[in-house]
Amino acid sequence: MTGTRIGLIRGDGIGPEIVEATVRVLDALAELHPESRGWEYVEIDAGADTYRRTGVACAEADVRRLRDEVDATLKGPVGLPDVRTPDGVEAGVLGGILRTGLDTYANIRPVRSWPGVPSRVRADRVDYVIVRENTEGLYASRGKGVGNRWAVTDTLLTTREGTLRVARKAFTLAAGRQGAPADGVRRVTCVDKSNVLRSHAFFREVVTEVAAEFPEVELEYRYADAAAQDLVLCPERFDVLVMENFLGDVLSDLGGATLGGVGLCPAGNVGDGAAYFEPVHGSAPDLVGRNRANPVGQLLAAAMLLDHLGHVDEAARLRRAVSAVLAFGTVRIEADGTVRGGAEAVADAVIAALQP
Ligand code: IPM
Ligand code: MN
Repeated sequence: MTGTRIGLIRGDGIGPEIVEATVRVLDALAELHPESRGWEYVEIDAGADTYRRTGVACAEADVRRLRDEVDATLKGPVGLPDVRTPDGVEAGVLGGILRTGLDTYANIRPVRSWPGVPSRVRADRVDYVIVRENTEGLYASRGKGVGNRWAVTDTLLTTREGTLRVARKAFTLAAGRQGAPADGVRRVTCVDKSNVLRSHAFFREVVTEVAAEFPEVELEYRYADAAAQDLVLCPERFDVLVMENFLGDVLSDLGGATLGGVGLCPAGNVGDGAAYFEPVHGSAPDLVGRNRANPVGQLLAAAMLLDHLGHVDEAARLRRAVSAVLAFGTVRIEADGTVRGGAEAVADAVIAALQP
């Protein structure tokens, strides 16, 4: 009897290597937790290679399956530099299709320090979550900018409903966490450029309104440029940060880079119905088949998926195992973000560390 249906998008480049490694780890976890009743995988063909073969990056029927037929989806990195639409845009990127298609309006991006992984910031412990609005903001204009050869514009869209729901996600998340490592205060930082942009001022206004529903969580504001600075200078004071789509895209890469690199960073795209989980990094086609692919971001994305589905013991066990192999140096992240032995070697080490 199978308990959980997990959609699986293996992706492009190193995607298949790191997703396969993650599936092995998930299966080992299921064996250790028979009460989970195991995972059934539903393979979905999507990404740049899919576009090359079929002319679409993800068929509409497959988007529907991801919404209706699975409990949540594990997605590998997608995109190949040479696979482009006739107008020159990368064709295999799924962000636009899945985030709007599944209405996964919150992009949850945890950034934390790991024992044994060199950090580029001066802080003992860093543990914050960027909640990036995922269906509007500047990227509402994704592929829809207008212009001619003299001028082009992209419109930044902030709606009340869109901001209310992502702000509630951020506050709910903060309410369930332990607060910022620096002072233990449960805090949401609203990051914006409300001193310049009307749409961002509106975002701040709506976030402020939602804060009243969560008296146990402190609300503070940071202009995005100052936030970029503080994420480098004093990252330990952050707990949950909420921001517009484009800002979240940029600052989550910055955050990842200050610690072990984006190779260690997972992301969850979460809505009220569907959810999918992916690494923040790209498909690194140059690393394919060279036994260097680092699956840690993908493994941590799987841990987020398990948490999301209520398999909190399995998720905690997976994170402990990842933490142990990093701390003991069984797995060493090289300066360029790769690992020796590649995804398979990391999966072997993690599976060994899962054992009681
Ligand atoms: C991300 C990525 C995507 C985005 C790209 C690949 C379209 O940068 O998930 O952060 O812009 O959202
Ligand atoms: Mn990005």
